[in-house]
Amino acid sequence: MENILELRKEFPVTRSKTFLNHAAYSPLPQRAIDVMKKYNEDLSHFEIDESKYSLGQEFFAKLIDGNKDEVALVPNTSTGLNIVANMLDYPQDSNIVTTDLEYPSVVYPWLKRKLGVEVRYVRNVDGRILLEDVEKIVDDKTVVISVSHVEYVNGFRHDLRKLSEIAHEHGAYLVVDAIQSLGAVPVNVTRDNVDFLTASCYKWLLGPAGAGYLYVRREFVEAFDPPFVGWASVEPEVFDTIEFWDIQRLRLSKTASRFEVGSPSFISFVGAAISIQLLLSLGIENIQKRILDLTELLMDSVKDLDLRLTTPKDKDHRSGIVHFLIDDAQRRSERLRAKDIIVSARSNGLRVAPHFYNTKEEIEHLIRELKAT
Ligand SMILES: Cc1ncc(COP(=O)(O)O)c(C=O)c1O
Repeated sequence: MENILELRKEFPVTRSKTFLNHAAYSPLPQRAIDVMKKYNEDLSHFEIDESKYSLGQEFFAKLIDGNKDEVALVPNTSTGLNIVANMLDYPQDSNIVTTDLEYPSVVYPWLKRKLGVEVRYVRNVDGRILLEDVEKIVDDKTVVISVSHVEYVNGFRHDLRKLSEIAHEHGAYLVVDAIQSLGAVPVNVTRDNVDFLTASCYKWLLGPAGAGYLYVRREFVEAFDPPFVGWASVEPEVFDTIEFWDIQRLRLSKTASRFEVGSPSFISFVGAAISIQLLLSLGIENIQKRILDLTELLMDSVKDLDLRLTTPKDKDHRSGIVHFLIDDAQRRSERLRAKDIIVSARSNGLRVAPHFYNTKEEIEHLIRELKAT
């Protein structure tokens, strides 16, 4: 990515801050701000032409190598995970397998007593989840392996292909929370045989909150009944062929839109669609490469400062997240923030999460200030 200075003009945040917190809540690129403004203006003058605005399903599908028909709009990742957890069946004595590194929403939906399913945790070894440990804990009573593609504190990235192999050998599904990976590293549901995947857009996808997507592998779309239904769950033809909704019968959509319930936050999806298009136009491989260069520099510098990294260094498991232990993490992150350097305090350390538009100079600036605080 050669024209990085030009690209940075797309990000108003770069004018005032060193923003290294994309694992939390990211600032919008100018083109997303512009399209959302335009949408609101059109709406307020009752001049809206919905057909001019994409809600992004086709771009999300492209990003994960899925199909538009396999993508539903959801308000956020947690909702996507709950939809999946609540539509599957859990026979007596069945279990789901997850890890001890997960964000709560990856696990909580299965802890609901009503589901009556055992939740098993694969324990991390120095911040890594080893496949042999997953293999030991999964059995023929496992219904789901539920993981975050990239773990939210230390950035450990799972090998989804290997996880799906283990799941499928036992007749289980692989459910993936991709909020910490999509937009920063390539995701390919077809190659990796992922069954369900969901993500909000407000982190690495650089979109607004309120927009998320749920991918359901084609063969499962019609196999399951959605846990919630509403006008958005039915076939669009129903509107065209009869004068009114047929409220005597529920004819669920044959595409993943059957998992939608009611009106989405249109404005959020309009913004998200533009941000995802921007990422696609830059190429996710290029973005990943740039992020890896920045995190490599960061990890080397952290080591020089004698701080302990909890992020695994091997490239196969890397992502956009770097975490290291440091005393007084909260106070340090506040001090950095007072100097317009934005990172997060997490788990007795600092989590730094640069995106493609950050620069080597910004990482060096962070390191200098870390030394000084
Ligand atoms: C791994 C992971 N999953 C889910 C979430 C939250 O998702 P949402 O707000 O889209 O429900 C986060 C937010 O930090 C996260 O890191």
